[in-house]
This record gives sequence, C-alpha cells and structure tokens, in this order.
Amino acid sequence: MLKPDLLKAKIRTKEEVLTKTNEYIVKENLKQLGLNKKYYVKTYGCQMNEHDSENIKAILEDMSFTETDDMESADLILLNTCAIRENAHNKVFGMVGRIKNLKEKNPNLIAGICGCMAQEEVVVNEILEKYNFLDIVFGTHNIHNLPNILYTAINKKDLEVEVLSIEGEVIENIPVKRNSKYKAWVNIMYGCDKFCTYCIVPYTRGKQRSREPIYIIDEVKDLVEKGYQEVTLLGQNVNAYGKDLNINYDMSNLLEDVAKTGINRIRFVTSHPWDFNDSMIEVIKKYDNIMPYIHLPLQSGSDSILKLMGRRYTKKSYIELYNKLKSALPNSSITTDIIVGFPNETEEDFNETLDVVNTCKFDGAFTFIFSPRVGTPAAKMADNVSLEEKNQRLYKLNELVNKYSKEANDRYLNKIVPVLIEGTSEKDESMLMGYTDTMKLVNVKAPKEYIGKIINVKIKEIKTWSMDGEIAE
Ligand code: 5AD
Ligand code: SF4
Repeated sequence: MLKPDLLKAKIRTKEEVLTKTNEYIVKENLKQLGLNKKYYVKTYGCQMNEHDSENIKAILEDMSFTETDDMESADLILLNTCAIRENAHNKVFGMVGRIKNLKEKNPNLIAGICGCMAQEEVVVNEILEKYNFLDIVFGTHNIHNLPNILYTAINKKDLEVEVLSIEGEVIENIPVKRNSKYKAWVNIMYGCDKFCTYCIVPYTRGKQRSREPIYIIDEVKDLVEKGYQEVTLLGQNVNAYGKDLNINYDMSNLLEDVAKTGINRIRFVTSHPWDFNDSMIEVIKKYDNIMPYIHLPLQSGSDSILKLMGRRYTKKSYIELYNKLKSALPNSSITTDIIVGFPNETEEDFNETLDVVNTCKFDGAFTFIFSPRVGTPAAKMADNVSLEEKNQRLYKLNELVNKYSKEANDRYLNKIVPVLIEGTSEKDESMLMGYTDTMKLVNVKAPKEYIGKIINVKIKEIKTWSMDGEIAE
C-alpha cells in the first residue's frame, strides 16, 4: 500500500524533471484483462481532470475494456475526483454509497477512486476506515501505471491503494480517447508552485512541470491532421509555462509556435495575473487563431485578503492588467473566479471585490464560498464570518456578476459571430450548439452537416446563459 503523505506533497525540489517516452506499457498478459467487460468513468472537477479521464479511458481500452454510460451495468467503475471544495467531496462520497449497493448485487464489480481526492491523506484515511469495500485508489501521478494497479487489485481482493506523493517524470506516451472529434485538450504543464493559501492543487497535482515544447507542438500538428478545429492548452497556471525548463522559452513562445501549426482555434486555461506578460498579449493580438477569450481569476478585490491568500498582486495591479488586456484586445471576453468569505473577510473587503466587478464588468464569473481544505494554510486561519453572512455575500455578488454578464451578452444582439458547431443542443434536438471565439454558448437552427465546422451566425436572441442565432448568409 502506498498512501498519500501531505508533508511529502509539499516538498519542492530543484531537481530537473525528466521526460519519459516509453514509460507506459501494457504487459502482454494484461491486454485481454478487460475482454467482454464494460467500464464506466465518472469525472468531477476541472478540464485537467476531464483530460485525465480521456487518458484513463484509452488505457482501459488498451486492456480490451469497452465503455458504457450506464453505471449499473459496468464491471469496472472509476470516479475521477476533484478536491477543490468540500461539496466536490460530498458528491463523490454520495456516489460511493451507490457503488456499495451495486457491489452487493454484483460481487465481481471492481470500483475505485482516482484523481485529486485520492491524493489527499485525509480522504484515503476515510476510505480505509469507512469505504474499504472499494477495490482501488490511485492518484494523479501514476495514471500510466493503471494496468498494473488494476491487475493487482483484481487478484488481491482487498483495497489496493497506490498514491504517489512525489510527482515523478513527465510521461509522454500515455494514450488518449478524446471526447470530441473537433476540439481537444492539450496539457502543457502539470502541477503548480504558487501555493495560494486556500488551494489544495499544489498538494494534489505536485510541483510545476512543463512539457517540452516539441511534444506539445507535435501533438497539435497531429490534431490538425486529424481535422481538429480547436485546442485548449491546459495547466493550473499556464502563464508560468516554461519557467521550470532550463531553456529560454515561455508561454508567449509556445502560443506563437502553436498558432503557426495552423490550428483554427487556440484557447488556454488557467491564467494567473502574476505571470501574464506583455509579450503574451502581443502574441494573442498578432494571431487570429488565438481566441480573444481570457480567464483571469481575481479571487478577491481586497488587498489585505489578496495578501492573506498569497496572490502576489493588488486590486490596482489587477485592474491595470485588465485594462491593458482590454485595450490591446477590445473585442475580447474576460471571465474570472471569485471567492467570498475567506477567513475574516470584512464587509469592506467584500465591497472592494464588488468594486472590481463594477470596474471590470466581467463577461462571466465563477463564484465560490471559501471552503477550508485540510493541510492548506488558510484552513488553519481563525474565521469570524458566519456561513449566513457568506451566503448573503455570494448572493449579492452573483446578482452583480449576472447583471454584467447579461450586459456583455446583450452587445451581441444582431451581430455576426463565428461559432464552432459541436453537436446538437441538449435542450432541443432540432438545434445545433457551439461556442463563439469569445466562448459564448450559441444555439442555432442549422442542418447537421454543419457539425464540426466554424460558421458565421447572426445572433437573434439573448438568453440568460446562452444566445440563439441563425446562419448568416
Ligand atoms: N475554496 C473555495 N474556492 C476555491 N477555489 C480554489 N480553492 C478554493 C477553496 N479552498 C476556487 C478558486 C479557483 C477555482 C478553480 O476554485 O476561485 O480559481
Ligand atoms: Fe479539482 Fe483542481 Fe484537481 Fe481540477 S485540479 S480536479 S479542479 S482539485
């Protein structure tokens, strides 16, 4: 058993991270392990996790498992989990309860937990105590070893826990089963070294490790050849890309090289205001295939809270960066993340946040109540703000955020915008859906042959979370 260790997960060494190109292998005797067996993978959390699940699925298919979207009929269930807030935990443990019932009906069912929660010491202790009917727990650093972990779990009959607390190498040969034929996630880096005081990610995802540029560019070139229209470059803090490689190459260089592959659309998430430099802005401006959409987490507008959060910028410098982006890219949309109710956030602190929202008028914002994560510095801070107060602040913030979001969307009425059509609309089968270059959800009445294409759409109606349009001649 290899259990996660919080103290080890905190360690950052200066050692160079190696790239391994043949670390993932499925032994001959494991290639048929999943024959006539179905797997079900449920993903919680961010795009990084979505992409990890695409890797996990491909690995399972290398072992002859086939996918099902019906959990009840699966022979193997994996929950790829998120640790970012307590409610993500609760959802997973709710699902584990359902798995217990399924296992009572089908004793051969293999079920497990992976992803960020598996990297948490407290979670694994809880699983060992209360949920040890599960078969397998593995983390974010050893996905490539899944065939062997699974084999051990199947043969062992008790819970197999294999979680590494130190990240290891960058593995380049993990297969992927992509969810879409038109847009693809591409990891550019793993981990994070920022250690914002509220955040669990530096512990669950390890030290910052950038992929070498050549592997990223080759992956994008291959996607272009396969007909992909869009790539999203993924990392916890993409603007810091390259800082850990001993080469003189940063995010602006990478963006430029990816733009030159000719892929139609490039997005990148998530940016930290700290590392957003002028050359990046120049490159975004220069290339039409880099989308004018930036997600720029604010977290708080109060300088004293930002300091307690360890964010390394002030209200003033955030607004300056925002204005710089808007003047260089006037048609861009900018969204953000905001946390309310950080320990001891005062009414004045909260008003500073509202003030930034009033100044920046974001296209959208993801808003959260602070959730203490065991092991992070903020979880140990005394807190005198009641949950009722935090809920009221969240409500007030959401009202303001929604007002500006609606105003931003209203500006699209009667405009013609490019939309990458992804498929049929969930709510209305007769409509197609897709996103604008600025990441606005658009529903459009159009024939199915447009799926996978970027088309010009005239916006006819603005709704709360989407827009309706028609094909522009
Ligand atoms: N509590 C609440 N929200 C959090 N986030 C990260 N950690 C926490 C936490 N402990 C939010 C931040 C981040 C987004 C992905 O989740 O706003 O940008
Ligand atoms: Fe969840 Fe963050 Fe981990 Fe993504 S990186 S899965 S959001 S904890």
